[in-house]
Amino acid sequence: MIIAPSILNADNLNLEANIKEAVEAGISRFHIDIMDGHFVPNLSFGPQLIKDFKREFPMTEAEIHLMSNNPDDLVPAFVDAGADSIELHYESMNESQLNYWLDYLASNGVSANLAINPDTQVEVIEKFLTKIKQVLIMSVHPGFGGQSFITKTTERIQKTRDIVDDMPIEVDGGINDRTIKMARDAGADVFVVGSYLYEDGSIAKQVHKLEKAIN
Ligand code: DX5
Ligand code: ZN
Repeated sequence: MIIAPSILNADNLNLEANIKEAVEAGISRFHIDIMDGHFVPNLSFGPQLIKDFKREFPMTEAEIHLMSNNPDDLVPAFVDAGADSIELHYESMNESQLNYWLDYLASNGVSANLAINPDTQVEVIEKFLTKIKQVLIMSVHPGFGGQSFITKTTERIQKTRDIVDDMPIEVDGGINDRTIKMARDAGADVFVVGSYLYEDGSIAKQVHKLEKAIN
């Protein structure tokens, strides 16, 4: 089980302190949301953040959730910046582009992951199974932190588990100490947590509450 914090809703003026607190609480992977204002109606971070992150936290994994229709410019830029894994959205490009960029990631030593939106049939994953290392099932419509977990996601996770066998399944959106159990029981292994971490002033405390909920 992996808890992967999303820094989207963190105080941007205190990112380093927030990341450090989570790392000290035992976090080994961050989920970094990249939004381009086209694929989703919001903007977030660029490659420079990943460079700085990997310089300061070289032992911590940077998982890039790429919400963009512009893989040609952004995939190489995030690979060069030091991404450990990149999750490409099925809905963000056509299938031949997707095949091309999944292969590109693998040949550059970056873990290639596939993300799907709440309204996309989970069966689309089947076509890419040999090329990917992890599946990301969105439990909210991407674009913003702080949304509620879509309940039918649990069925989608169960269906995905039948398709992917023992590949890690990540769930992203609306995770708190209640929904994390629902997602775990459905078969998810990796939990992205955004706004819940910043709810009561102590990131470490929130991480421990989540760990307690699933252990
Ligand atoms: C939504 C992002 C999520 C989000 C999670 O588009 O992909 O990673 O930041 O935030 P919460 O946990 O607040 O839903
Ligand atoms: Zn995300």
